Amino acid sequence: MTRFDLQLRHPTGETTISVGDGALGEGDAALETWVRQRRVFVISSAALLELHSQSLLTLSRQAAYWHLLEVPDGEDAKSIAIAERLWGEMLEAGAKRDSRIVAFGGGTVGDLAGFVAGCFMRGLEYVQLPTTLLAQVDAAIGGKTAVNLTQAKNSVGLFNHPWRVVADTRLLKTLPPAELRSGLMEVLKMAVISDAELFSVLERDLEGLLAGDPGTLAPVVAAAARAKIDIVERDPTERDERMLLNLGHTLGHALEAGLEYRSLRHGEAVGYGILFAVQLAERRGLPVEAAERIRRLVERFELPRMPALEVEPLIRLISRDKKVSEGGWRWVLPVDVGACEISTDLTETAIRRELTAYLEQLGTIS
Ligand code: GLY
Repeated sequence: MTRFDLQLRHPTGETTISVGDGALGEGDAALETWVRQRRVFVISSAALLELHSQSLLTLSRQAAYWHLLEVPDGEDAKSIAIAERLWGEMLEAGAKRDSRIVAFGGGTVGDLAGFVAGCFMRGLEYVQLPTTLLAQVDAAIGGKTAVNLTQAKNSVGLFNHPWRVVADTRLLKTLPPAELRSGLMEVLKMAVISDAELFSVLERDLEGLLAGDPGTLAPVVAAAARAKIDIVERDPTERDERMLLNLGHTLGHALEAGLEYRSLRHGEAVGYGILFAVQLAERRGLPVEAAERIRRLVERFELPRMPALEVEPLIRLISRDKKVSEGGWRWVLPVDVGACEISTDLTETAIRRELTAYLEQLGTIS
């Protein structure tokens, strides 16, 4: 097995991020020491535990107690009510300040578990064992944790870096192809932001990667993780450069919310968001060859058709998005393949005009 061990230095310490085909199943000495003789709480979903509990077997044997805390799949897990239930269950099971939390799941499980760990007794150590591609390349890295309020997603949370991340690409074998495709869009996003070489790898190997071979995926997951680590190290709390990671997300989040999280997966909405960013960027001098390369690669993902949408509700959703700061609208725009900038001078009027043209061109305006 080729294993990639990456380091992320952050304000509260250092996190090792290990990526590999079989990184978890073949045993991990550091992780085994970390759980040894401890009370360990594993936050995961019933479906995942049924599919993959075998991968946790060696680890579970090292712990003094091994408690499974089941949470629902998807965004339903990310609520204050669920967090409160888990804190109660942990107290009843005798959790102490040196107990451990293991997040075993996709981005929603990781976000919730990091939040639960960060608040319980003012902070327990936790690890992220991401089981989706989206979580392996993005959500599990960088310490963002949160739960949702009914008014807005991710509105209550904290930066809380895991002690360790282990991304085993073998776990991706059971992902539905559409989920894998959605996760690969975040890899494409990282490539457009800062890694022209990774972009070329995607151009060359996209079909093989979409087929989900764990060995082919491992170096690509590691490259995307490394690109994210570089940005997070320079700007851990998203004051400036980390906002680049929102490429395609400003419109993407509005599309997801406008379609009530039903018609498009996260990565698909981000794909449409990246295409819109390319359109905006072209007006500001993005070279036509770069624009065409990005468009062609996004098109090879064969995004599902977007249902009809109205412009005004989308504009309202974009204004509510937390990336629209007091200082005005911020858009992440490519300046080349592998380089992006944050634009602060696009007005609401300009975005309304461009979005209308974009949806008309897609034939999805209502
Ligand atoms: N998912 C974007 C970030 O971690 O900043």
